[in-house]
Amino acid sequence: MTNPEYLVRPATAAEHDRFSSLFASAMMFESSPSELDRELFEPERALVAVDGDQLVGTTKAMSWDLSVPGAVVPAAHVTAVGVRATHRRRGILAGLMARQLREVPEALAVLWASEPGIYGRFGYAPAAWGVSYEVDLRRVGPRPPAATSGRLEELSADDALTQLAPLLRGLQASRPGVSGRSEPTWRRRLLDKPEDRGGKTARQILVHRDSTGALDGYALWRGKLSWNSGGPANEVTLEELVAVTPLAYHALWYHLLTIDLAAKLEFGHAALDEPLAQLVTNPVALNRRLTESLWVRLTDVARALAQRRYATAVDLVIEVTDDLLPQNNGRFRLTADTERASCERTESGPDISLSVTALGGAYLGGRSLAEFAATGRVVEHTPGALATAAFGWPVAPVSIEIF
Ligand SMILES: CC(C)(COP(=O)(O)OP(=O)(O)OC[C@H]1O[C@@H](n2cnc3c(N)ncnc32)[C@H](O)[C@@H]1OP(=O)(O)O)[C@@H](O)C(=O)NCCC(=O)NCCS
Repeated sequence: MTNPEYLVRPATAAEHDRFSSLFASAMMFESSPSELDRELFEPERALVAVDGDQLVGTTKAMSWDLSVPGAVVPAAHVTAVGVRATHRRRGILAGLMARQLREVPEALAVLWASEPGIYGRFGYAPAAWGVSYEVDLRRVGPRPPAATSGRLEELSADDALTQLAPLLRGLQASRPGVSGRSEPTWRRRLLDKPEDRGGKTARQILVHRDSTGALDGYALWRGKLSWNSGGPANEVTLEELVAVTPLAYHALWYHLLTIDLAAKLEFGHAALDEPLAQLVTNPVALNRRLTESLWVRLTDVARALAQRRYATAVDLVIEVTDDLLPQNNGRFRLTADTERASCERTESGPDISLSVTALGGAYLGGRSLAEFAATGRVVEHTPGALATAAFGWPVAPVSIEIF
């Protein structure tokens, strides 16, 4: 699979702009790296493939954290995967992936895939589903929230930079699959360059305050003027909505679903169990579409399994196969109650066998081991071993941004 003709090595800080330009040309967008991009670059976590003096492949991992069932843990956030168009299908990606996965210090790596066919062969599996909405605002029928002493207001980007972070951490505490943001990452998230708006308005930052004035939710959205023969048909694009109380959730959504002159609202990051359907009379008008969102690859099975929490007590010997990372091959005894978990190597007979890919797919609690067993990707040796609900989680994972 990998091609020894192309050397794979860590990038240097000085290579940032060439690195970005190669990735941008692979994805077909214009590269215009900023000082902030350079500041966020972690060259020691970026790999390049080279052909003579030319960079021909890129990938990097970002040191972010991620919410998993019952915990927030470090996770390599893999991105900037690109191979020069003249060098495609020669094993360059395979070489980059193999080295990156071998060197990841975290127990898991995660990514968003541009195409679903790329990453399964490297042991990644979709672990969170995303739901996108194209809401027909004329038909959806939002139910008004009960009158309360909470209030909505707009926030400047500068204020948002210092005030929104605790809310995102609140979401991480309640849902798996949510990536954390450092201060510079927040700065990048809140950038709003006119050339990136695609004909939409500047970003609006809407917040909800509870009766004491404390922030308990926010929404980042834009509008777009659209007028047709039937009259106004403006479009609302919701980028992100985070609420840590039911009231904030309801108030923010109600506001967004009732904006004057708007006919459509688009949102790309709803969870599979998004509660919004309860707050409208006609959920069909949400026009929901299922997508794959976060892919998970366990790089250290024992550590990854011990890092998350389990919905019920469990005592299971799991036999894992991993074609790329031999240290993951073998049997592991997972013992856990709802408060703690441990996972150690064992020689005992397995209760279940599975690939590291299936285990990654089930890791966030959004897909069951039984789902993988139905296609033979998980094999049950001890009758009843798969009946455990331990790997599931009461709340579906969601990844709220493409990175
Ligand atoms: C996707 C991309 C990185 C693949 O790089 P590459 O060097 O051509 O890949 P490799 O030659 O190492 O291929 C490894 C394997 O993956 C397969 N593969 C590669 N790209 C694939 C794709 N887009 N869909 C399905 N399979 C793919 C290859 O066929 C090969 O399979 P094999 O080992 O069974 O022969 C490259 O085509 C690219 O830069 N695409 C545009 C940017 C992009 O989509 N990046 C991913 C962002 S998430």
